[in-house]
Amino acid sequence: MEQLQLIATTAFGLEAVVSRELEALGYSERTVSDGRVEFSGDAEAVARANLWLRSADRVLVKLAAFEVRDFGELFDRVTELPWAEWLTEDAKFPVRARCVRSQLASEPDTQAITKKAVVESLKRNWPRDWFEETGAEFPIDVSIRKDQAVVTLDTTGRGLHRRGYRTWTGGAPLRETLAAALVQLSFWEAGRVLADPCCGTGTILIEAAWIGQNRAPGLGRGFLAEHWPSLENRVWQRARQEARDCQVRLPEAPLLGSDRDPEVLELGRRNVEQAGLAEVISFQQRSVTDFSCHHKYGCLVTNPPYGERMGEREEAEELYRGLGRIARRLDTWSFYTLTSHRGFERIFGEPSGRQGDVRRRKLFNGPIECTYYQFPGPRPPWT
Ligand SMILES: C[S@@+](CC[C@H](N)C(=O)[O-])C[C@H]1O[C@@H](n2cnc3c(N)ncnc32)[C@H](O)[C@@H]1O
Repeated sequence: MEQLQLIATTAFGLEAVVSRELEALGYSERTVSDGRVEFSGDAEAVARANLWLRSADRVLVKLAAFEVRDFGELFDRVTELPWAEWLTEDAKFPVRARCVRSQLASEPDTQAITKKAVVESLKRNWPRDWFEETGAEFPIDVSIRKDQAVVTLDTTGRGLHRRGYRTWTGGAPLRETLAAALVQLSFWEAGRVLADPCCGTGTILIEAAWIGQNRAPGLGRGFLAEHWPSLENRVWQRARQEARDCQVRLPEAPLLGSDRDPEVLELGRRNVEQAGLAEVISFQQRSVTDFSCHHKYGCLVTNPPYGERMGEREEAEELYRGLGRIARRLDTWSFYTLTSHRGFERIFGEPSGRQGDVRRRKLFNGPIECTYYQFPGPRPPWT
């Protein structure tokens, strides 16, 4: 297959992380913009990106980009795209439109015209009045921003944060894609101790373990484009085989989860078991204030409560004070905390021996604007 233009979509703030992940996969031509990283690759790249990207939301095939100012133009440009090369005769092809600051402002109309244009194009290949849409799914997205349209096909389906292990609901888990980014933005690497003292259902630890094992996060799930004849099945088989072959044993070093809530810990234990990590991650019920660890050069990566709701602020602040005390006690450790609480740094204080060495990164936890506070400690002597 010829080179395709592909787009990895991301949450705001994670573009650089996803771009680095694509670099590591060997895709060197990349363009980064708000919420997306564009890259080029063949059919195998679609499979590999879906299987391996840890912090991206989904992988799209970009079919066209053009300027558009009226519906006639939109209809013509969409009709001339090679839809029959991508879709099957029984394809299900829902269309979603987004219009921002453009002459074409009505999303329902943009959606309807695009759908009509795709049908028109398919009729040229399969002359029939009606397409049943009972087969594989090919979600089409048309996004028009300042009169520039981009037409894409979604190869992923359910967002990439769905790794396939979380079959239990409950708690307020962090998105897996964000958890993977927090780990990748930290100095943690396999072989160092990692602790999350507000671990909830264990998302950060699970992502870290998979990074340490070089395990492709998508191995335990399927993707829409696996059912597309346009991307041959052997491409997916090869990519899955490559992912299985790449997996390594995690070097000996504890991954420690603790939380004061026994119910979320129970969910965490089940998640860890389903993720095949029961031997690797251990949980303990305890409050942040009771956290201790005799290992040196560990990393503490955590997503504590933000105290946004009425009556919860003081409790969150008390917890941050507790985290600060830990940071002054464990002077070889590195500390990483994601929170939306603007007073975090003042309340946390300074970890010992690291005056002024804080890094701050704006990230979004869903709609909540947060800061990721990073206090890197000394490098371990073995690195
Ligand atoms: C935002 S949630 C973390 C979610 C977690 N990252 C996940 O993916 O499931 C915050 C967690 O902190 C825990 N927590 C709140 N106060 C605590 C305290 N004083 N000590 C330990 N854990 C606490 C809560 O029980 C909750 O599970």
